[in-house]
Amino acid sequence: MLASKRILLIIGGGIAAYKSLDLIRRLKERGALVTPVLTRAAEEFVTPLAVSALAGEKVYRDLFDLTDEAEMGHIQLSRSADLIVVAPATADLMGKMAGGLAGDLASTLLMATDTPVLCAPAMNVRMWDHPATRRNHAQLQADGIRFVGPNEGDMACGEYGPGRMSEPLEIVAAIEAALGDGPLAGKRVLVTSGPTHEPIDPVRYIANRSSGAQGTAVARALAALGAEVIFVTGPADVTPPEGVQVVPVQTAQQMSDAVDAALPVDAGVFAAAVADWRVAASEQKLKKSRDGLPALEFSENPDILKRVARMDQGRPQLVVGFAAETDNVIEHATAKRDRKGCDWIVANDVSPATGIMGGSENAVTLISDQGAEAWPRMGKDAVAQRLAAKIADTLNR
Ligand code: CTP
Repeated sequence: MLASKRILLIIGGGIAAYKSLDLIRRLKERGALVTPVLTRAAEEFVTPLAVSALAGEKVYRDLFDLTDEAEMGHIQLSRSADLIVVAPATADLMGKMAGGLAGDLASTLLMATDTPVLCAPAMNVRMWDHPATRRNHAQLQADGIRFVGPNEGDMACGEYGPGRMSEPLEIVAAIEAALGDGPLAGKRVLVTSGPTHEPIDPVRYIANRSSGAQGTAVARALAALGAEVIFVTGPADVTPPEGVQVVPVQTAQQMSDAVDAALPVDAGVFAAAVADWRVAASEQKLKKSRDGLPALEFSENPDILKRVARMDQGRPQLVVGFAAETDNVIEHATAKRDRKGCDWIVANDVSPATGIMGGSENAVTLISDQGAEAWPRMGKDAVAQRLAAKIADTLNR
């Protein structure tokens, strides 16, 4: 799918540079032409010879190499590409890009181009969380730079958290999406995610423990395959992914309205933990009173998944629900699929012993008309990628 696309791959100096060797292979397998650029620091992690052998092209290394300038100036080098990929995008490279510095070949290429740029950041978790990196990331996003990752997980430095470079195949998917080339290109997909907050009065609300991590990962994975993603999210702990249309909501009713506004879509993935009930909220803050405890009056929220799955007209081709269960997972989830009328249910066991609710891993069973398919326990990102790939297969069948 990437046949004859020219990718200028800037490899920054970080331990994740070893994954860039595999990335080159994967891109070549798909027919892309890869022109590699190594920063000086990158040469401490991977050799120019290995990079050039895999890419089958000359490696560009130094701004002041006069032979290179005679053969192909740095301006032309950056402009002749269909996409510039920075992997790993180190804190240093991101800082240079955000600040407009051009003191070496990599940063000059990035300054001298109007070609789209995709960054795959990789750095220690503290560096990723540092206010300077937060500022640079926000600035680069505002400048229209695309990002894939970083992922959360164990890091080479022994710490845990966001900062791991995305896996080569995730980067390939993001490259395909950036070039408008993924298997979900042209498809419109809705994802609901996160908890809802149901107000009791102006300062109090009823909520649940959903972090929004799984829904966010699903939206990211779908976007990486080229889908146009409408991401309707309640107040989640995690930040929304890049490259999706974010519709923030608070309550179930607002989520329901936002879903209606997003239709028609080719597929809907309903990962939100929607509150089943809302409270007849007081306009004033409830006060302690001598007359006893306040009586909260509940009414039922719209069941968004059920309503969309049972639409007579304009039903998405594929409707996917989630079921968080604490016992008899398959039995309950199968019954839920029938009750809601959706095509698939992604069921998981959220009993406290599993550590899944709020954790980084998930163990799901996919219930469809083909029966129950148990997936091994894996990271929420991996679950999302597998689900997105299956959605792409189904929509393209
Ligand atoms: N859902 C929804 N709108 C609601 C409630 C749930 O869209 N008002 C969706 C969720 O996003 C999820 C699925 O329905 O995809 C979960 O079903 P639900 O009946 O909420 O599950 P539980 O709350 O676990 O149901 P029960 O209490 O019956 O186990």
